[in-house]
Amino acid sequence: MAAGFWLLVLVAVVGFLMALVLNHFLPLFLKYGLALKGTFGWPIIGETLGFLQPHSSNSIGTFLQEHCSRYGKVFKTHLFFCPTVVSCDQELNYFILQNEGKFFQCSYPKPIHGILGNLSMLVAVGETHKRLRNVALSLVSITKSKPEFLQDIERIAVQILGSWKGKPKVIFRGEARKFTFNVIVKLVLGLTPEDPETAKILEDFLTFMRGLISLPICIPGTAYARAVQARSRISSTVKAILEERRRNNVGDSPRKRSDFLEILLSVDALSEDEKVSFVLDSLLGGYETTSLLMATVVHFLSHTPPALDQLKQEHQKVRSMKQKDEKLNWEDYKRMDFTQNVINEALRYGNIVKFVHRKALKDVKFKGYLIPSGWKVLPVFSAVHLDPSLHANSLQFHPWRWESQDQTLCKKYTPFGGGPRCCPGSELAKVEVAFFLHHLVQNFRWRSEADDQPMAYPCVEFQRGLVLNLEPCSSNPLQPFQSGE
Ligand code: HEM
Repeated sequence: MAAGFWLLVLVAVVGFLMALVLNHFLPLFLKYGLALKGTFGWPIIGETLGFLQPHSSNSIGTFLQEHCSRYGKVFKTHLFFCPTVVSCDQELNYFILQNEGKFFQCSYPKPIHGILGNLSMLVAVGETHKRLRNVALSLVSITKSKPEFLQDIERIAVQILGSWKGKPKVIFRGEARKFTFNVIVKLVLGLTPEDPETAKILEDFLTFMRGLISLPICIPGTAYARAVQARSRISSTVKAILEERRRNNVGDSPRKRSDFLEILLSVDALSEDEKVSFVLDSLLGGYETTSLLMATVVHFLSHTPPALDQLKQEHQKVRSMKQKDEKLNWEDYKRMDFTQNVINEALRYGNIVKFVHRKALKDVKFKGYLIPSGWKVLPVFSAVHLDPSLHANSLQFHPWRWESQDQTLCKKYTPFGGGPRCCPGSELAKVEVAFFLHHLVQNFRWRSEADDQPMAYPCVEFQRGLVLNLEPCSSNPLQPFQSGE
């Protein structure tokens, strides 16, 4: 009797394992499954571990190197539990991004939906995505026309740099995060670092961020479960702020503020939950990526003295054209040509976003490649950014390459994605970096350590947080903003 039971268990376990293996390899034998070169790796996990192997963010890593040389720039594999097509081909990547909603669709792993919620712009599709996106684009364009927004960015940069006075070294990743968080919380919610809600949002936000890169196990106590709770607490805080604003705005209130939230309140196209989700998207989108961009710029500059010299000269020139203590404006930003080249090059060479997640909505044939419907598709931006056939001396940080190229129309340069999902915050991120650099290069010299490199895990992070050894430039002491400015 007992032997019969165990035999049954054994048959069930073997049957289950065989079903998993079959399920893993089955897509190979369905339509187009064998059309592309590549391998599905191990049952269930496929080649995920190899794909996620850390490597320097200004290289494509061993996995892509080996696979591209064995199978070509487009190959099949099995990643994140899905049959997958990986594309390192600039034409195919461009085609994927441009055909969002038609042949391909944004498809982030399910656990990310669990944390972000289905109303997040990063995961929403179709009409909901369009509505959220239109609001984002109109809000971002307002940033340019409102001098207060630019002054807030500059004020926060000066505050952070002012706090470096007398310090021999700083951990730059932390400083950059402080800067981008304070900027985005001010722009979106009108909060300053001193407001009590700011610290509360920051604490919950950090828990939320940790959950995004954790194992998706939703049982109490795990980082994932804590992130889901943190998201709901941030939602409540944002809802309370929205409510208070509504109360204050009754009639012709003198307490009306100038931030995204004020405009968001008057948008009828979005429900209350969509507005809250929109605020979260802005915090999430505007925080980690922008602070990483700042860190990669500072890191690459410290290893490229001629670029740093030229950048410094440009900012001294901008400053010399202004009155003492006069604040930076949009025209100044537009004058910072070399700064733009440095930022563009750091985005190309540093590869903050290595790839994006898509899935094929139907069978797609492009340039002889056959992509089966339902498969995951990963356009890898870093492979295109570092391709020596597309960018001369691609493995060198060389900002001058952008002097003769229009990066905005370029298929071979997509640090902000492309097509209908192209990042709405790209310009805001660049202004933040440019304004911070303006004060940094005029007030400090710095050295970073050779072994403190940006690594793709695949999220980019510096091995030691980017330690900067500082030396103040005596000629240009920081001019603190007057209170109330
Ligand atoms: C250096 C800084 C940044 C980088 C490298 C970056 C990169 C990207 C990329 C590659 C995408 C496309 C994702 C996809 O196609 O699946 C994206 C989308 C997005 N980004 Fe950014 N981003 C940056 C800054 C910002 C900022 C400052 C904000 C907001 C204030 C922001 C908000 C968003 C949002 C809301 C989306 C979703 C857009 C959509 O799906 O329509 N990003 N970003």
